Amino acid sequence: MAKTQHLGHIDEPLLIFGGPYSNLQATEAILAEARMLNIPFRRVICTGDVAAYCGDPQACSDIIRAAGIHVVKGNCEESFGVNAEDCGCGFDEGSTCDQLSARWYAYAQDSLDTAACRWMADLPDAVTFRMAERTVFVTHATATSNNRFVFASTADTVKAAELDAAGADAIICGHSGLPFTQPLGDRLWHNAGVVGMPANDGTPRTWFSVVTPAPGGIHFAHRPLEYDHAGAARRMRDHNLPEEYASCLGTGLWDNCDILPEAETAAQGQEITPGSHLWPAAEAVRHAGVAAE
Ligand SMILES: [Fe+2]
Repeated sequence: MAKTQHLGHIDEPLLIFGGPYSNLQATEAILAEARMLNIPFRRVICTGDVAAYCGDPQACSDIIRAAGIHVVKGNCEESFGVNAEDCGCGFDEGSTCDQLSARWYAYAQDSLDTAACRWMADLPDAVTFRMAERTVFVTHATATSNNRFVFASTADTVKAAELDAAGADAIICGHSGLPFTQPLGDRLWHNAGVVGMPANDGTPRTWFSVVTPAPGGIHFAHRPLEYDHAGAARRMRDHNLPEEYASCLGTGLWDNCDILPEAETAAQGQEITPGSHLWPAAEAVRHAGVAAE
C-alpha cells in the first residue's frame, strides 16, 4: 500500500532536490544552499535515492536524517530497506549501468547501518502539498512506479495518465537525473534533477529547484549547484567505486546513455542554463479558457 505524507497548504518557497546518491559533498552543499536561501528544512523535500553511486552512503543518510527534511522513498531506499539483491533502478539487464550498479550497490549495502535501512524502509512513497489552489504530488519516479524513467521527450499521454493516477495538478519527481519543466494543458510535470550526479551537459554542476508561490501562479526555478566535485570523486576512488561515475563528476558527461531516449542522448554535452517557469494559477487559466471561447 503506497504511503503518502500530506504537508497541507504551503504559501512560502520550497526547495526540492533529488538523488544525493551518497555524494556527501553535494548533500552538504544543498543543505547549505537551503540555509543561504533562508528556506527552513521543514520546507525542503528530497525526491529520494539518498544512497547510490558515490562514496559516503552512511554519512549522506545521517546528515539528511539529522536535518529532518522531507524525503520520499526512491528505488534505492526501497531496496536497502528490504535488503534486496539489487538497486531496483530499472536498468536493462546486462547494460553497463546494470553491471556497474552491482559494485556501488554492494558497497552501499555494506556501509549502511540497520537504523539507516529502517529509516529508508519507513519513508513515504509520496509527499503532497497545496500551493496557489493547486495540488502537487512529489514522488521519486512516477505515481505508479518507483523506477520508471520519464524524460521531457516521454509521451504526453504517459505523463497525463500518471497525473490522473496521482489525482494531482502537478507531479514533481527525480530518478531520471535530468531537470525539466513541462506544461501539459492545465497541468504540469517537473523534474527537479539530482544533486549527486551532473546532468550530462558537460559541466560538473548539479541541479535542484525552488518552487515559489507568486502573483499569478507558481514559479518553478531550476538552479545549478556548485560543490566540491573533486572531493566527491576522491571519495569514490578511495573506495574503489566505478571510475566511470567518478570521472563523470568532473566532466559532467555520463559514461553511457543507455537509459536515455534519442532526444536526450542528442543533447549530451549541451550546457543547461538556469531557468524559471511560471505556472499560471488555476483561476487565471479558467478565465483564459472562457475568454478564448
Ligand atoms: Fe532512482
